[in-house]
Amino acid sequence: MRILFLCLGNICRSPAAEGVFRSLADEAGFVVELDSAGTGNWHLGHPPYGPMIAAAAMRGHDLHALRARQLTREDFDRFDLILAMDRQNLHDAQALAPAGSRAQIALFLDGETGPHEVPDPYYTRDFDGCLDIVEAGAQALLVRLQRAQSDSAF
Ligand code: 4NP
Repeated sequence: MRILFLCLGNICRSPAAEGVFRSLADEAGFVVELDSAGTGNWHLGHPPYGPMIAAAAMRGHDLHALRARQLTREDFDRFDLILAMDRQNLHDAQALAPAGSRAQIALFLDGETGPHEVPDPYYTRDFDGCLDIVEAGAQALLVRLQRAQSDSAF
């Protein structure tokens, strides 16, 4: 199973989702390949945004080694799931997806008990609020994937 988390800049929300999901998957012994990317190209090669690295570190998630990159057409065949942080990211990914590529593209959050979109802390400045949402979403995703592994359907 290969999962790509997607946001706009790849320095706040999607690296946070990657780092948080990595923590949960490791704890649960769930084997998965993870990456993250942005639809934009402003921060190529940069580490995640400093305040996001710091807020995540307070919760035990290590983001410092991640580097920003832009979503490519190849990603749609490399990954099983591309999970977008908001509807604009979802729309942009759908527009870039080559016909017949294998990745399933969806929102990261299922919206069942909370929001459908992860608010962007680059603009809201609420890094902890973002991490609360990302942690809940990552937990729900792990449960969904563990169920899917036994049912063989996501
Ligand atoms: P992200 O936040 O999509 O969560 O990484 C952003 C970070 C930077 C920019 C936009 C969004 N920017 O325009 O530089």
